[in-house]
Amino acid sequence: MIDFDEVIDRNNTGSTKWNKYKGQDILPFWVADMDFKAPEQIQNALHERILHGVYGYSRATPKLIDAFLSWLDDNYQWKVPAEWLVWLPGVVPGFNLACRTAGNRGDSIMMSVPVYYPFLSAPENDERAPIYVNKHFVNDRWEMDFEAMQAQYRDNCKMFLLCNPHNPTGRIYTRKELGQLADFCLERDMLICSDEIHCSILLDQDKPHIPIATLSDEIAQRSITLYSPTKAFNIPGLSCAIAVIPDKRLRKQLINADAGLISGVSPLAFTATETAFTNPGSWIEDLTGYLRGNRDRLSQAVSALPRVKITHAEATYLAWIDIRELDLKDPGAYFESFGLGMSVGKQFMGDGHMRFNFGCPRSTLNEGIKRLEKAILARAESLK
Ligand SMILES: Cc1ncc(COP(=O)(O)O)c(C=O)c1O
Repeated sequence: MIDFDEVIDRNNTGSTKWNKYKGQDILPFWVADMDFKAPEQIQNALHERILHGVYGYSRATPKLIDAFLSWLDDNYQWKVPAEWLVWLPGVVPGFNLACRTAGNRGDSIMMSVPVYYPFLSAPENDERAPIYVNKHFVNDRWEMDFEAMQAQYRDNCKMFLLCNPHNPTGRIYTRKELGQLADFCLERDMLICSDEIHCSILLDQDKPHIPIATLSDEIAQRSITLYSPTKAFNIPGLSCAIAVIPDKRLRKQLINADAGLISGVSPLAFTATETAFTNPGSWIEDLTGYLRGNRDRLSQAVSALPRVKITHAEATYLAWIDIRELDLKDPGAYFESFGLGMSVGKQFMGDGHMRFNFGCPRSTLNEGIKRLEKAILARAESLK
């Protein structure tokens, strides 16, 4: 079993996360990868595949396809035939392709913000106009604001881009919220692209993940749902994703939208993905157990500090911290000066917030918390 407490030196591995602050005493809590080793069964399968020695262009094996389809059925009672699947080298390419299936250039695509920042630019990457609708904080959580969505809707809006579970607010949308969104899209003949990459990192055990496509056949027929084991199994650099697209015409449109821009999935990514679906072992339970501990530790610490609030992360390993009352001009630089490299909320259209990635050993988290406390207390003191 992986020892989640083990501190692994990721310097000199080309790690995006650790390279950013190379040579500086700044701990990285930004980009969404975790500082844990991948499960042993994935490491072993990769070793074996490496030893084969031939790394040609590859396709998903029948074993992988069967395992993924069983996973959908077992977890979500969603019976999907193999022909609905489109294999892709990433979820980000997936939702960019999805945007290209939505109406024509000049049409619009809606999303509720803050949201994972590559969503923000996806419509404009192929000349669709984004409609950004602010979420509102009600019932102690960030919710989609359906009144604002109605007010900002335009006739040429062809798609809603959904992120569920949600990065960065950590929400797992409820059946009721998803139903409301489904009705909103049905009434306006909009497609739904649902990025469900975080669906296995559920920290609140009483809140199930529900794929929006499973709400009804009508919704399924207008949906593109994106999955990947890369977040939950901590293999994000291996790049593999699956689009589930029930409607044949939409599926064809997405495949054609590729226009030679998207490469295939690497054989190593397929090997890791196949192992994640065929032999997950107790990894998900072990990981989410550890992350739950990290979330609670961070929440407790931040809740005791003045002028800041932390959102309860129902899922993901990302905490969303409200720092508006600290009134910082350049929050990224401010926290870096205390040795903390977090993601700045503005990047997600969530100004006045910071995103803290707590997917790390407890000792790294504790050091991060120490620095966070110092930074916040110093600022609160200076505002007195
Ligand atoms: C919501 C969401 N979608 C997609 C991605 C990245 O997906 P990929 O690496 O498969 O392109 C991330 C990574 O942080 C994410 O949080």
